[in-house]
Amino acid sequence: MTSNSEVETDPRLQVKIGSVELENPTILASGVLGVASGGLISAWKDGAGAVVTKTVGLKPRVGHPGPRIVGLHGDSLMNAMGIPNPGIGEYLPEIKAAVKQGVPVIGSALGSTPKEFATVASKLVRSGVLAVELNVSCPHVDSLYLLGMDPDSVADVVTQVVGKTKGVPIWIKLPGSTDYPRLVQVAQAAESAGVAAIVALNTLPALAIDTETQTPLLGAGIGGLSGPAIKPIAVRAVSELYKAGLKIPIIGVGGILTGDDVIEYLLAGATAVEIGTGVLIRESTIFSKTRKEMADYLTRHEIQHISELTGCMKDVGVNP
Ligand SMILES: Cc1cc2nc3c(=O)[nH]c(=O)nc-3n(C[C@H](O)[C@H](O)[C@H](O)COP(=O)(O)O)c2cc1C
Repeated sequence: MTSNSEVETDPRLQVKIGSVELENPTILASGVLGVASGGLISAWKDGAGAVVTKTVGLKPRVGHPGPRIVGLHGDSLMNAMGIPNPGIGEYLPEIKAAVKQGVPVIGSALGSTPKEFATVASKLVRSGVLAVELNVSCPHVDSLYLLGMDPDSVADVVTQVVGKTKGVPIWIKLPGSTDYPRLVQVAQAAESAGVAAIVALNTLPALAIDTETQTPLLGAGIGGLSGPAIKPIAVRAVSELYKAGLKIPIIGVGGILTGDDVIEYLLAGATAVEIGTGVLIRESTIFSKTRKEMADYLTRHEIQHISELTGCMKDVGVNP
C-alpha cells in the first residue's frame, strides 16, 4: 500500500480488494476526469484510496460527436462520450507519471476482441498499475454492452487477459442493467474465469430529449445515465451479487455523493466503491469529505473497522 503524505492514515478505513490494499474504500471511477495524469494525481491527493484511468484501447478513438455530457435534474448526468482515448501507446506516459508519484493506479482496458483486451491489459500491467479493470460495459458503444451481458463472451475475454497479465489482479466492470439475474450470471462466469473483483455498475442505457428542438440532447442520440438517479439500481445489483455468494470482492459504483452513500453500498455487500459523477458535480474535495463522513459514522456507531459493514444490511424478513 502506498501511503499518501497529504492524508492522515486511519487504520479503521483500510481495505483489501483481494491482494490490493487501499488506504480507504473510495476509488476514482474510470473516465470522468479525462486522460491527463493530473486528474488521477489530484483525486489521490484529495484522499481517494486508488484511481482508475480513462478506458484505453489499442488504437486512438475520437469518440462520439457533441454534446457528449448533459446535466439532468437532481444532480444526475447523461453522457455519450464514446470512449475517446489516445490509444495505449500515447496514454502510457500519463499513467506512468501518476504511478511514479506513488498513486495507486488501476488501468481500465478496452478491446474489440479478447486478444486485443489481453494486449492492452498486458501493456497496462507493464506500466505499473495495481490491477486492470476490463470495460465490457459501455452503454453507448453497442458491441461492448452486448459483450458485457453475455457470460460466455465475458469468460473468453477474462481467460485471455488472465493468461497475459502475470498474476496482476483483473477486475470486471458490469454493464448498467436491472436484469439482476443476468448480471449475476456474468459475474459468476467472470469469477470462474479468474477475475479478482466485480465492479458494479457502468452507466445505465438511457435517452433524454430536448422538447424545443425535439431532438436528443446528446450528439450520439442515446447515452448512459449516471449520478444519484442510478444509485438504488446499482445498490440492488451489489446486493444481488453479494447474495449470490461470490467469493471475490464487489466494488459498488453509481451515484455516490456522501460518506453515507458509501456506507449504503457496503451494507449491500460491497468491499469498496468508485465515485464518478460526484467528482464532476461536487467540489473537488469529495474524497476527503466522504472519508471524514465514513470515519464519523464508524465513531458514531462504535464500529472498529469499516469492513465489518460489508453485507450487514438487516433482513426485513419478507420474501416478495
Ligand atoms: C463523463 C463520463 C465518462 C465516463 N467514462 C468512462 C470510461 O471511460 N470507462 C468506464 O468504464 N466508465 C466510464 N464512465 C462510467 C463511470 O466510471 C461510472 O461507472 C458511472 O458513471 C456510474 O458512477 P457515478 O454515478 O458515480 O458516475 C464514465 C462516466 C461519465 C459520467
